[in-house]
Amino acid sequence: MSVSIYPGSFDPITYGHLDIVERAARVFDRVIVAVLRNPRKAALFDEADRVEIIRRAIEEELPPEVARRVSIVRFDGLTVEAARQHGAEFVVRGLRAMSDFETELQMAHFNRKLAPGIDTVFFMTALEHAYLSSSLVKEIARFGGDVGGMVPAAVAERLRSVAAEWSGDPAVG
Ligand code: PNS
Repeated sequence: MSVSIYPGSFDPITYGHLDIVERAARVFDRVIVAVLRNPRKAALFDEADRVEIIRRAIEEELPPEVARRVSIVRFDGLTVEAARQHGAEFVVRGLRAMSDFETELQMAHFNRKLAPGIDTVFFMTALEHAYLSSSLVKEIARFGGDVGGMVPAAVAERLRSVAAEWSGDPAVG
């Protein structure tokens, strides 16, 4: 059985990520979406929220035969350790543009050095999602912009309530 792990911050998951999950699940028997708890990065949504949002997005927006192959875990520490722990031999990552390539290549080399039995497999982000980034989606939501078509409904819903809270914040003006 081929098992892959798709690590990331997913703060929040976008349609770009979800498309990679779906395509990876058509290639591998199992895809483990691994949500990083990164104490160095201030996240909008905590890990429990991110996991719940991803769970809803997968359940609501992926075909059941695909969703069946996907599970979600949280991790901290090294991606390769999480991969070993879950029996994954492949790390999945998406590439949007050349600007992603350098960092991703370096991470793939580091991971292979740390764990020679684990290979990284890249999926080219679908053209229609190539412009998406979690940070920019958050910025748009922050200023009341419409994020429909950029993120799954479960995310859009959560961003709308966060934006409503922000707009009620007198310090934000
Ligand atoms: O979605 P992101 O934030 O681009 O994902 C980055 C991620 C989680 C893949 C990367 O930061 C990572 O693997 N972090 C875990 C720590 C680790 O293994 N570092 C060494 C990789 S070279």
